[in-house]
Amino acid sequence: MSQQDYHVPDHIFKLSGVSKAYGETHAVRSVNLSIPKGLTTVLIGPSGCGKSTTLRLMIGLLQPDEGTVLFEGNEITRANILQLRQHMGYVIQNGGLFPHLTARENITLMAHYLGWEKSRINLRLQELVDLSQFPNDGLERYPVQLSGGQQQRVALMRALMLDPNVLLLDEPLGALDPIIRSGLQNILREIFYKLRKSVVLVTHDIGEAGFLGDQIVLMRGGNIVQKGTIKELIHSPAGPFVTNFINSQNSLQEVLQEEYE
Ligand SMILES: Nc1ncnc2c1ncn2[C@@H]1O[C@H](COP(=O)(O)OP(=O)(O)O)[C@@H](O)[C@H]1O
Ligand SMILES: [Mg+2]
Repeated sequence: MSQQDYHVPDHIFKLSGVSKAYGETHAVRSVNLSIPKGLTTVLIGPSGCGKSTTLRLMIGLLQPDEGTVLFEGNEITRANILQLRQHMGYVIQNGGLFPHLTARENITLMAHYLGWEKSRINLRLQELVDLSQFPNDGLERYPVQLSGGQQQRVALMRALMLDPNVLLLDEPLGALDPIIRSGLQNILREIFYKLRKSVVLVTHDIGEAGFLGDQIVLMRGGNIVQKGTIKELIHSPAGPFVTNFINSQNSLQEVLQEEYE
């Protein structure tokens, strides 16, 4: 097969029969899931249902007990993981910024490590500062000197610095108060749209899922209960759990209002 005949997949990740247990806890059970390119997929479900584990399996921080994880058509292995991960931007739950580095140093660390020219680094950094509406004078501050919302934007810029093929975000707005959170949801939606990135976002907020997600994946006890758009989940629920989960969260009122406006 020549290089040109090689089939380029239209999904960025493909999980087939993936299971992962921690001792007795079956965190992820026989999951089949394709993450489409250029769209935002949201993983949602109650605490402990396996969202973060699924994300960690995608970026190769965890190996599945069973099944396979493909990234752009390649199975993730110990041999290729470091290479592949340079094409994945990841924001862990709570941001995970290095406390002893300034915002600028956090964001540009990998680019320096990879030997990027200073001018290229500064150009990319300025693009990201503009995109995320981050104050320029915040770049020289340490994480403790930044607000929660600013810290999350630094984590986001760090994940986007190398222009990854996919962006994975684990509850990026989870710890923020509602007003800051809603402002950042708007910024995130604009960034996803402008960059046309493939995005996998974890949240437990159905309103946020409906606002940001093209595809929503509802999980429970390590299984996928339903995949679809927010409207499909509302109007054609796969079972009572779906409806109960949606109705238990009043943040959905905004999504419903938008729908009927
Ligand atoms: N490192 C770990 N060791 C043991 N159990 C874990 C570990 N990480 C997660 N779990 C368990 O696996 C299940 C799924 O966890 P997780 O993927 O973090 O859920 P979520 O992100 O949806 O809250 C939970 O029961 C959790 O307690
Ligand atoms: Mg989690």
